[in-house]
Amino acid sequence: MIDPFQFSSLPEILFGEGVRNELPAAAMKRGKRVLLFTGSSSVHNSGHGEEIISGLKAANLLLDHEIIAHEPSPTLIDRIVDQYRGSGVDVVVAVGGGSVMDAGKAVSAMIPVEGSIRDYLEGVGEKKHPGDKIPFIAMPTTSGTGSEMTKNAVISEVGEQGFKKSLRHDNFIPELAIIDPEMMLSCPADLTAAAGMDAFTQLLESYVSVEANPMTDALALQGLKQIKKYLLRAYLEGDQNIEARSGMALAAMFSGITLSHAGLGLVHGFASPLGGFYHIPHGVACGSLMAPVFARTIDNLQDRPDHPAIQKLLIVSKVFADFKYKKDLEYLKAFKEKLIHITKLLEVPLLSAYGLNEEGIQKVVERTSHKCHPVKLTQEQMVDALRNRI
Ligand SMILES: [Fe+2]
Repeated sequence: MIDPFQFSSLPEILFGEGVRNELPAAAMKRGKRVLLFTGSSSVHNSGHGEEIISGLKAANLLLDHEIIAHEPSPTLIDRIVDQYRGSGVDVVVAVGGGSVMDAGKAVSAMIPVEGSIRDYLEGVGEKKHPGDKIPFIAMPTTSGTGSEMTKNAVISEVGEQGFKKSLRHDNFIPELAIIDPEMMLSCPADLTAAAGMDAFTQLLESYVSVEANPMTDALALQGLKQIKKYLLRAYLEGDQNIEARSGMALAAMFSGITLSHAGLGLVHGFASPLGGFYHIPHGVACGSLMAPVFARTIDNLQDRPDHPAIQKLLIVSKVFADFKYKKDLEYLKAFKEKLIHITKLLEVPLLSAYGLNEEGIQKVVERTSHKCHPVKLTQEQMVDALRNRI
């Protein structure tokens, strides 16, 4: 029996080594004036930044360039939008990690409308975005957020009243995603780990989500197999192992599709207030909490063998197991240990390194939603999961 489900459109996808060379032609198809977003360092250190800029210039495109150094705030987006509103931008291109892609996506959506992005952010503003936008091309240089596939841009304000909220509309799915694993060879190891753990979390949470459907299940499980095979290799040999970079790029791409169709779970529920209160990179928040949250999730479900989520967790546990022909509980136990092991091998920092303490834990738990997590954790378990990482 298959429950009714719906699957919305995807960007046009160019995937593979060298596809970055298609960017100038793809931009030209959409107009003359390009607003380019890049990150502050890695894309330039690798030489890809210069290559992309000279490729666009050689195609006689008019080029404006903005550098995004941090997760984008409403103030930053408003400043850039004010600068380019009315300047005739035909296409926005973002070459970078999740922050760069989210900034580009948000600016492409805000240039055609009036007011501040705050007015349109979910749970912050009152206005409904009409969906008008400037064409947007996403070109990831990390394998993590999957933002190249999604219809939302995540915007953060850090502080006492901080938040991490989305600007969202079906029309905000990028027109084109150019995913070239060669662009990821220069991604530093710590960023590879954090982004990779974000993709891992997104795949696992959408796989066991209460909103999952057969399409997202197929993609999520395939993505999780890529994670098992390539996450550690990308971390350890990321500057030379193109096979590992390709596998992780595919996993991240799938995670973007599955999260936007099946939703996310409690790890991302925690990541939202954590990112609002503290300067914690999103991938670090997810990577840090994956093991403690899923250990407690398995604990709460393991006496319910008919629950669809425990059946899926068992499938994933078998994908990650180093043995065969054991009892189901052995696989689940080994998976909990494997998550701790991966977190250690990837040297994912503790949340206390960014300022989380006992007092902060209460504040974070109060603002945390379970999203589409398949089972509730008790208040005590939630506190305990955070305490595990301070
Ligand atoms: Fe995420």
